[in-house]
Amino acid sequence: MKGDLLTYGLLALTTIVLLVKWLKPSPSSLPHIPALTPTAPILSLYGTYRFLVDNKGLMQEGYAKYKGKAFKVAEIFRWHVMVTGPKMVEEIRKAPDDVLSFDDATRQTLQVDYTLGSNVYYNPYHIPIVRTTLTRNLPILFPEVRDEIKEAFNEIIPPTNDWVAYPAVDNMMKIVCRTSNRIFVGLPKCRDPDWMKLNVQFTIDVVVGAFKIGMFPPFLRPLAARLFTNVPNSIDRGLKHLGPMIRHRRKMMEEYGKDYDNKPNDFLSWLMDDAEGEEQTERALVLRILTVNFAAIHTSSQSFTHALYRLAANPEWILPMREEVERVVKADGWTKLAMQKMRKVDSFMKESQRYYGLGALSMTRLALKDFTFSDGTFIPEGTFVSAVAMPMHHDDDYYSDGEVFNPWRFSEMRDEDGEGLRHQMVSTGSEYIPFGHGKHACPGRFFAANELKAMLAHVVVTYDVKFEKEGVVPDPFWAASANAPNLSAKVLFRKRQD
Ligand code: HEM
Ligand SMILES: *[C@@H]1O[C@H](CO)[C@@H](O)[C@H](O)[C@H]1NC(C)=O
Repeated sequence: MKGDLLTYGLLALTTIVLLVKWLKPSPSSLPHIPALTPTAPILSLYGTYRFLVDNKGLMQEGYAKYKGKAFKVAEIFRWHVMVTGPKMVEEIRKAPDDVLSFDDATRQTLQVDYTLGSNVYYNPYHIPIVRTTLTRNLPILFPEVRDEIKEAFNEIIPPTNDWVAYPAVDNMMKIVCRTSNRIFVGLPKCRDPDWMKLNVQFTIDVVVGAFKIGMFPPFLRPLAARLFTNVPNSIDRGLKHLGPMIRHRRKMMEEYGKDYDNKPNDFLSWLMDDAEGEEQTERALVLRILTVNFAAIHTSSQSFTHALYRLAANPEWILPMREEVERVVKADGWTKLAMQKMRKVDSFMKESQRYYGLGALSMTRLALKDFTFSDGTFIPEGTFVSAVAMPMHHDDDYYSDGEVFNPWRFSEMRDEDGEGLRHQMVSTGSEYIPFGHGKHACPGRFFAANELKAMLAHVVVTYDVKFEKEGVVPDPFWAASANAPNLSAKVLFRKRQD
């Protein structure tokens, strides 16, 4: 009851603030940048509406109209500048952090102070661990990744002689969550149903909570956060899982030294080794593991499901990959090295990232100082800037027949170029930004690519897959600029028949 009153009070106050704001010409309306959506008071809401419900169409329209230049669209409290084309992507990449800031943009878009906690901003010590320690350990940890993928698929999708339909989004999420957590917190915790549920739910809580908090004017956000986020409860719940593990590992270290025999080689250990000051508390360690899961599991599982849908729509692409995987595994076994040699599998995943990606935008930055693009586009301090991703990824100027899903596009480019690395899945470029580009490009992409390729390789040598209705990928689910695979579609699986 008290909570309800507070909610209504907050909503009323917000409405007043918004009305005043919409009726008054905004000083940050960037008059020199063309608007894709109406600029007049109140009417600008139509642009906000389209940003939320028809982002894909809006960005395509903007890209077609302003390619190589900038345009702006209305969000709730601000204009958001979109830049288009590789040249401007390159300029975002080169801009220093204290001018176009990734960290400050994230801090606001995810309402980090109220969701993941401000230490993720002030002390992002997990990022070098993701980029360096995790990546370096991939060859050693590969057998565990492989084992978890095999076990998870066998349990969740037992190979049968008859076709069986599985809702893909939920099941792929379970498999990705288990496999990632095998490396984050190890066995048996990675298979604990409550731990998995917590991590899947935490991401949704953060994203939805951040969206709701962002609807309120800044001075009301601390209050809104108390109503709309559940982070302290999530930490409590995570503490039940990880608390005993942390205490046990600490005890072992005290008794047998920092590198005691059989010390688990997982993300939790790496965090415990590097945490300083208040980050050493059990709550802080739990929140950091939740944060890494936040960055890792929805991104990876959505990416995989997009690819799986495509494969189920075009099952004729299974065989070429099946042949490749069998040939490579015969020579190198199931190893990290083998994953590197699977060019068709790599190409398929990379093409899926190009074609679907995670959404219409990438490389969102907040200007901490005035910035001017080389074409003269002036970005005043305080402005949000993003690169338009999907329309560029589909542009014939950069990808021949860009609207066509060509699974071997990148493996053919690798064969032609005679050099192996530039067109592999983990390579970013000014025309390829599903992982961003430059210094802030996803540090987890080496882990993600390895895991997703191992999953795809396992699928093609274990199963036949298809859709009930052949040839068609079910419509994706767009929420603002995010492009999720269809939430309810089922993929048919059976044990491979040849
Ligand atoms: C296919 C899966 C994934 C995709 C598509 C993806 C995509 C991205 C993108 C687009 C960014 C922002 C780049 C920018 O704005 O320049 C990012 C950042 C990040 N990603 Fe990923 N990601 C994936 C998987 C992962 C995984 C598995 C992890 C952890 C193990 C991870 C950890 C991070 C972190 C920590 C950042 C922030 C980097 C920074 O602050 O500089 N990601 N990711
Ligand atoms: C799933 O796909 C079907 C068929 O393409 C479509 O009608 C439906 O709206 C989609 N649903 C979601 C939630 O993505």
